[in-house]
Amino acid sequence: MSNYHIKHLEEYYQVYRKSVREPEHFWEEIAEEHFLWYKKWDNVLTWDFSKPEVKWFEGAKLNITVNCIDRHLTTSANKTAILFEPNNPNEAAEHITYRQLHKRVCQFANVLKDKGIKKGDRVCIYLPMIPELAIATLACARIGAIHSVVFAGFSSTALATRINDSDCKMVITSDGSYRGAKTIDLKGIVDEALNECPCVESVLVVKRIHSEINMKEGRDEWIAPLLEEAYEDCVPEVMDAEDPLFILYTSGSTGMPKGMVHSTAGYMVYTAYTFKNVFQYKEGDVYWCTADIGWITGHSYIVYGPLANGATTVMFEGVPSYPDFGRFWDIVEKHKINQFYTAPTAIRALAKEGLELVEKYDLSSLKVLGSVGEPINEEAWHWYNDNIGKKQSPIVDTWWQTETGGIMITPIPFATPTKPTYATLPFPGIQPALMDEEGKELKENQVSGRLCIKFPWPSMARTIWGNHQRYKDTYFSAFENKYFTGDGALRDEVGYYRITGRVDDVIIVSGHNLGTAPIEDAVNEHPAVAESAIVGFPHDIKGNALYGYVILKDVGEGRVHDNLRKEINQIITEHVGPIAKLDKIQFTKGLPKTRSGKIMRRILRKIASNDTSNLGDTSTLLNPEVVQDIMDNVL
Ligand code: PRX
Repeated sequence: MSNYHIKHLEEYYQVYRKSVREPEHFWEEIAEEHFLWYKKWDNVLTWDFSKPEVKWFEGAKLNITVNCIDRHLTTSANKTAILFEPNNPNEAAEHITYRQLHKRVCQFANVLKDKGIKKGDRVCIYLPMIPELAIATLACARIGAIHSVVFAGFSSTALATRINDSDCKMVITSDGSYRGAKTIDLKGIVDEALNECPCVESVLVVKRIHSEINMKEGRDEWIAPLLEEAYEDCVPEVMDAEDPLFILYTSGSTGMPKGMVHSTAGYMVYTAYTFKNVFQYKEGDVYWCTADIGWITGHSYIVYGPLANGATTVMFEGVPSYPDFGRFWDIVEKHKINQFYTAPTAIRALAKEGLELVEKYDLSSLKVLGSVGEPINEEAWHWYNDNIGKKQSPIVDTWWQTETGGIMITPIPFATPTKPTYATLPFPGIQPALMDEEGKELKENQVSGRLCIKFPWPSMARTIWGNHQRYKDTYFSAFENKYFTGDGALRDEVGYYRITGRVDDVIIVSGHNLGTAPIEDAVNEHPAVAESAIVGFPHDIKGNALYGYVILKDVGEGRVHDNLRKEINQIITEHVGPIAKLDKIQFTKGLPKTRSGKIMRRILRKIASNDTSNLGDTSTLLNPEVVQDIMDNVL
């Protein structure tokens, strides 16, 4: 069916027009022809953005793991499903076939069942990028448990917050993880988190680094012996289309992280269809996304999207700099990667290292290059295009979010002509709108505004776990009857979109979404700190870095020294994680505030970015005099 695999621009426009004119018919055809259902839907779509409520394929019954694994057993049981490349290049890669994946997921699922996990229970997965991470995720889906994967770089406090927010009954972790030349004591982090988590009844531990760890009697168990005993088949739980598949936390501009809840059927259909088209995956291709499964990119485009298409998906445990900065290209050559999907921050870091590390390797297998997570700057785009793709592999600059579940604005390779820094055109089914600040839609081309989506798409998050009101307030209140993304964008003369960045207090550092509030809360925990404000500023490699303005309680001059800076970053590492460390910390006597007491972050952002030409009217501030003082002492 041609709709499922778009091959040229004319076809894209045809498919797109159809997807907008008859969205229900469009998605129904795709769902009907490309997936296995125990029962088909009664309604393709019901929606009301004012509540907000969105339901896709209501009444349908399915299990996503049957679509991702079992159905490939008749045709491709011996094909590699997951290709695991360990941190250490001298350790052999592991090829897990669809048949083996089926067995391992079923065994894992049976262990979960034995431990009392049932449909609807929440299971927290805190694992490094080892096969068990994908297997545990799929095992939850097999039995209808809701997985909540937490990126294994988050601290114990961040982990505890996420476990408690969704009342997880179980944690799946490992003794530790490898990260380049270092090892990380994951189990120690879990133990510390669990001091604060009364909801957790059991912990299953994967052995990875063979370190000595503490096992709490009655709570913790090694998983290996349980898996050995477990039965090799597990009847999949029959799920409703709208049953939650997983929760994944993302930062908000204020308050707690938001547990975005994704559905089963809509998520499956959309991630599978986007994967097929955005990467032009063909039978036999080897696809590699360098993200971690702890982020949405890994959920949708390492696990579910590729496996739903019967693809071979690579999981890489390590980092781009170990044993040297040629590692990515070494892996591309070794496994003859056809589609390579990474983040601009990685591209910028690798571009700094010089071309010898690229030229050593044969990259001729590459067909499509992807970029995700933050705007890709022109220089990085050209470096990627010239040196990695050799001007032969189109770059798909894919814009999307944890909340959207799948890729929203992107070129279709070999169909959409690319343009550096532009995510280009909406994917079929996606109806973007640019809005001005008064809430009016800007319909013409060559405009910029706030990026909204006007019509539901199958993989949109359905709610925030435990807080539907916050879901409504955050995404559906800024503009009537529209989903607001929090991003700004411009549309050029031919209708291509370029994402210009966040318009709220979320800062994207190295492609990771960071809310300022939890970092400020952490900084304020330091006994010497009275108040703080954190903003982003441009950074060569990370895209943005963090700048902290900190008011100390007792500003005796000589007390301001580097130790304090180290201590503040240490607290951030403990409370949020090392990714949220501040690059610069300026101690100040005051922070500019409005008369209602709100910190004027706009001014602080400009000062931190060395862009003080147009600070706007500061005379209406409560304390206009602090602005000059901050400018005089900027780092
Ligand atoms: O600001 C946009 C930016 O990343 C945000 C979403 O972050 P997260 O939920 O962590 O998901 C990242 C992976 C999908 C967006 O609101 N962003 C993501 N992709 C792009 C991007 N900005 C510009 N261009 C992109 N291709």
